[in-house]
Amino acid sequence: MDPDLASKLKPQYREVAVKETNGIPVLLNKQFLTGDNEKYRKMYNWMSRGYDLVETVVGRLKYGNTINNVRSANISKLEWRDNCSVLYVSIGTGRDLQFIPVTVNKKTLDIVGVDISMGMLKQCKKSYHKKLNLSLINCCAEDLPFNDNEFDIVFHVGGINFFNGKQLAINEMIRVAKKGTKILIADETADFIEKQYKKSNLTKNYFAGQTFDLHDLEAMIPNTVTEKTTELLWDDRFYCITFRK
Ligand SMILES: C[S@@+](CC[C@H](N)C(=O)[O-])C[C@H]1O[C@@H](n2cnc3c(N)ncnc32)[C@H](O)[C@@H]1O
Repeated sequence: MDPDLASKLKPQYREVAVKETNGIPVLLNKQFLTGDNEKYRKMYNWMSRGYDLVETVVGRLKYGNTINNVRSANISKLEWRDNCSVLYVSIGTGRDLQFIPVTVNKKTLDIVGVDISMGMLKQCKKSYHKKLNLSLINCCAEDLPFNDNEFDIVFHVGGINFFNGKQLAINEMIRVAKKGTKILIADETADFIEKQYKKSNLTKNYFAGQTFDLHDLEAMIPNTVTEKTTELLWDDRFYCITFRK
């Protein structure tokens, strides 16, 4: 494993030989590979090869440039600067990475992306590993393998609504962020899930009967953080919660 990445890991992972697939370390805690996590891991593994194409072609036909604009609006809320360490939880195929502000020299960023789906990570690696200083790890958001206080930027887009352990994932993002870090958590609103994911032939079987309450999620952000803000974007289809550790 790359020594820079190894230095970010908790000591117990530094000393063992970590299994890798396609050069991506696998640190999945089986305890969290049940229920919705396992269901969506399989769904994203299956969808991974077509994910970018669907968003680029179908997303564009249906919504024009709006998805890109929403991604860019989210990402620009983070405090990007040269030479910082970045953690993207549930990086997927990495589409947001193209929206890192141009004011930052991307080559100076030390970016780590994690995801429960190896399929999504493989696609991400294909698209970005030559363009960015990017390390990927296959793990669950509920059990991040990193040291406390490790990253200057921590964010998550697009999966937490149906994580098995939303509270655990939030606690983990806070734990691995350095003191003072602005953290961002964004995903689709319940309304958009009803109108889009429960209607689309591609996804309706996976989302049948699923519900999500934004207030419940907001209540999981502990009072130890500051500057807690929730914004709704794109006519209330997307929410974005930011706060500072
Ligand atoms: C809608 S996709 C979003 C991907 C990417 N963030 C984006 O905006 O394109 C949701 C992602 O969350 C990941 N995911 C789902 N449950 C997870 C979990 N418990 N831990 C880590 N990642 C998870 C999926 O594998 C998938 O890549």
